[in-house]
Amino acid sequence: MTRIAIVEGDGIGHEVIPVAQNVLALLHPDYEFFPVGVGYGRWEQTGCPCADHDIAELKTADAVLFGAVTTPPMKDYQSVVLRIRKALDLYANLRPVKGDGFDIMIVRENTEGLYSGIEETGPDRATTLRVVTRAGTERIVRAAIRLAQQRQGKLTIGHKANVLKSDVLFRDICIAEAKKAGVSYNEKFIDALGLDVLQHPQAYDVIVTTNIFGDILSDVASYLVGGLGLVPSANIGDRYALFEPVHGSAPDIAGKNIANPIATLRSAAMLLEHLGDNGGSVRIESAIQQVLASGVRTRDLGGSAGTREFGDAVLRVLGRQG
Ligand code: NAI
Ligand code: MG
Repeated sequence: MTRIAIVEGDGIGHEVIPVAQNVLALLHPDYEFFPVGVGYGRWEQTGCPCADHDIAELKTADAVLFGAVTTPPMKDYQSVVLRIRKALDLYANLRPVKGDGFDIMIVRENTEGLYSGIEETGPDRATTLRVVTRAGTERIVRAAIRLAQQRQGKLTIGHKANVLKSDVLFRDICIAEAKKAGVSYNEKFIDALGLDVLQHPQAYDVIVTTNIFGDILSDVASYLVGGLGLVPSANIGDRYALFEPVHGSAPDIAGKNIANPIATLRSAAMLLEHLGDNGGSVRIESAIQQVLASGVRTRDLGGSAGTREFGDAVLRVLGRQG
């Protein structure tokens, strides 16, 4: 029995996750779904956003479908999603940005970098340690290279080695691995890369970069496809896998049935691919395309359909095919 952990999280997570879960349940009546209630809402009720037993439960799943969690900018609050990524050692964050004439895969290192969690805060000075290790860099660039080899065979290394010594190490290891694998590569400073991705998206295949740069670059690149409501992601480790939209809990639109569920539906499609159901993954994407083509769109794409209505339209298309 394939077991999928469902984390709605906070905000629009409660709206977009049910849409994707319904689609998974339609395609896979054989799957078992079980909820794990971590997030800021849990913290408000119990003072603990994510407990050890939640992590243990997530580890029992074949895959996790994750909405988004609110992380309040409070000194003592630990980000739930960062904790889960570390606890499950989900070191590769894959963020595909795909549109007319371009197909980019952003491969973000997901466990170290500036999100190391090693921080000191005082009243007048606060520091965050940016950690780049050989082991961490080798495993992320090898994952990126494997992807490049299955795609167009081009690797771009995004870094800031002109300023950050930690990125000199990152860049050099990436280059050495690319040479070893015989994959064609180029490198770019991350700030210039941010602009160039928007101006020449067709020039890119796989982009590998450090944690925060990948986080920012993927939000920026989402501009190419219509915004944050459209970009999915996979968080993959050697043992566990978690799938989530790139966007957050969007408190500004939460509870209004206006969030775009496409990013989460695409995350569910990535989940199916990970579990070996490529056909199901393709069906979800083509159902999304059919619904969009029929003029049903959420507000961020200029339409007036609600989250649920968009989800129902996708279910109808899939149901007709079934
Ligand atoms: P956000 O991604 O939640 O929202 C940014 C903007 O995009 C907002 O205007 C929002 O309305 C819009 N947006 C996002 N998703 C959308 C969708 N599906 N459809 C239509 N519009 C959408 O980022 P923000 O506002 O910076 O963060 C809000 C909260 O989410 C914070 O607490 C943050 O820490 C958390 N967050 C959590 C993430 C996670 O759980 N992986 C990732 C990013 C942020
Ligand atoms: Mg982000």
